[in-house]
Amino acid sequence: MTNVAFITGATSGFGRATARRFASEGWALVLTGRRLERLEDLKAELEDRVPVHIAALDVRDASAVQAVVDELPAAFRCVTALVNNAGLALAPEPAPQAALADWHTMIDTNVTGLVNTTHAVLPLLIETGTGSSIINIGSVAGEWPYPGSHVYGATKAFVKQFSLNLRCDLLKTGVRVTDIAPGAAETEFTMVRTRGNQAASDAIYRNTTPLTAEDIADQIVYVATLPAHIAINRLEIMSQRQAWSPFAVDRDA
Ligand SMILES: NC(=O)c1ccc[n+]([C@@H]2O[C@H](COP(=O)([O-])OP(=O)(O)OC[C@H]3O[C@@H](n4cnc5c(N)ncnc54)[C@H](OP(=O)(O)O)[C@@H]3O)[C@@H](O)[C@H]2O)c1
Repeated sequence: MTNVAFITGATSGFGRATARRFASEGWALVLTGRRLERLEDLKAELEDRVPVHIAALDVRDASAVQAVVDELPAAFRCVTALVNNAGLALAPEPAPQAALADWHTMIDTNVTGLVNTTHAVLPLLIETGTGSSIINIGSVAGEWPYPGSHVYGATKAFVKQFSLNLRCDLLKTGVRVTDIAPGAAETEFTMVRTRGNQAASDAIYRNTTPLTAEDIADQIVYVATLPAHIAINRLEIMSQRQAWSPFAVDRDA
């Protein structure tokens, strides 16, 4: 039986690199994201090697997610890995200056969207059973506080705890759950976060060595292809050139 990876956010960054990496392992692919043209390009690139099914999808829309899953062709229904990758950070400014709409968009995408997809795909994963995986893309921001992380970091803390809690409920199903928590990686993520400000985005990566999308894709495929009895609960990955800062202290002048 062919393994099938169902990937959200396959149009860019980690998701697209993961699709390519699974293709090199011979996995069939269900690729989703809002930008249909990019999905079509990726399908054209990979379909001579593996079966590829694409569906334009906004993960915030629960009924659209359910429809994509209900309409999966038979050959793509034996999902072996769900990669809940679609997500974004907005509003890098401090909380008092952040727009409420940006907070809602992050919650709707990173929390509600991830829950929508998990709920819809879970019956297929349970049907596949032993050796299948849910791989949720969290972030170091879900574990470690930093200025400007406010709602983004809180959504990723949700991803972490939801992943751990799912493990409890899925114990007897054979389905594994992993929270992969990357540090800074160079993708379109910072262009989205800075609302298309190329200079601000470039400044984040200047004169350092961030993770790449391929680094994270390697870890996702590693987790999905481990022997069925091994469950990695959480994998936090940083560039060696990223670490933490001391506590900030407010002092009188
Ligand atoms: N890059 C980093 O430094 C970093 C670090 C830690 C964690 N992460 C997390 O890694 C994941 C992937 O990010 P990335 O770095 O690869 O960024 P990216 O290059 O901007 O890719 C984000 C992907 O999410 C999709 N997406 C966003 N909103 C969506 C929605 N409403 N419905 C469906 N798809 C949606 C985008 O596709 P469309 O726009 O086509 O819909 C795109 O494919 C995110 O969850 C992010 O929070 C990133």
